[in-house]
Amino acid sequence: MKIETLRWAGNKLEMIDQRILPAAFEYSSYDSAASVADGIRSMVVRGAPAIGVAAAYGVALEALRLQGAFTTAFESGMEAGFTVLAQSRPTAVNLFWGLERMRRVWGSMAGQDNAAVARRLLDEAHEIRSEDIRINRAMGAFGAELLPDGARVLTHCNAGALATAGHGTALGILRSAVEAGKKISVIADETRPFLQGARLTAWEMVQENIPVTLITDNMAGFMMSRGEVDAVVVGTDRVAANGDVANKIGTYMVAVLARRHGIPFYVACPLSTIDLAVRDGAAIPIEERSAEEVTGFRDAQWAAKGVKVRNPAFDITPAELVTALVTEKGVVNRPNRENIAGLFRS
Ligand code: MRU
Repeated sequence: MKIETLRWAGNKLEMIDQRILPAAFEYSSYDSAASVADGIRSMVVRGAPAIGVAAAYGVALEALRLQGAFTTAFESGMEAGFTVLAQSRPTAVNLFWGLERMRRVWGSMAGQDNAAVARRLLDEAHEIRSEDIRINRAMGAFGAELLPDGARVLTHCNAGALATAGHGTALGILRSAVEAGKKISVIADETRPFLQGARLTAWEMVQENIPVTLITDNMAGFMMSRGEVDAVVVGTDRVAANGDVANKIGTYMVAVLARRHGIPFYVACPLSTIDLAVRDGAAIPIEERSAEEVTGFRDAQWAAKGVKVRNPAFDITPAELVTALVTEKGVVNRPNRENIAGLFRS
């Protein structure tokens, strides 16, 4: 089964509702910037590249919705659309990257009628979606070469087809290695509190018969200490100019453990996830999510009522713990300010 996280159907955007996977597989439909922003905020769609693609469609949908309006109403409506989308989630830079790209296209259409602008914006959203799959395939090919045949690879969260327009970044590397004939098995961290590993990564791998073993997050050290992990491959939400990596909460813990056990720690990172405007990881905004995600899950609540809770959704892995970034332009060993800047020069 091909996983189409986002698809265009009947002049609307449809997205797999990732909140209910794997118990149910359903698409929800979106027809405006505000509705897409809501889908991003409520985690119907999640994962940095997928959020970027969804935001681009949100802009196009808003233009289609407003195309019959007078110029001033069209312009103010579009601005409101950009704002609501930009406020949906703070950490993944792909969201802002996608919005900026759409804004540039809009800016290049000055003086053209609304319908032409809307058509052009929709074409751009389609292009961003297709490009994302091409980029993931390119990263997959580079990353697959890093993994030995028979590798047992630990991953955290979900950086798979569901987190992108298709193929995935971290899971894309694993898929490409499997396609290249390597025997790869996956160890999926459960990824508390939202369970992206247990619900989404495990589901994706099971769909494709790629051997996968689910562990809770606190088992990673045990597995590594027993020699049961050969490499770690994760995705990222934002990489700072110095190579510090923001990714799902718990990634830092895995990186420290990997260093302790001499296990390579690879980060799949499309160029759209690198934020040269951010000097280092300390400046990356970290989303804090609701206490209910920590005190229970869905209807089950297990923590003592009234307890104080912290729920940062991401953490920062310092560049020094990263063996390599895998980008669509190639592998960047021991990322630092110089080799990251170099990616944008050629
Ligand atoms: O909160 P989420 O599920 O959006 O977090 C997703 C992650 O942290 C992923 O690892 C990251 O976005 C990379 S996805 C290719």
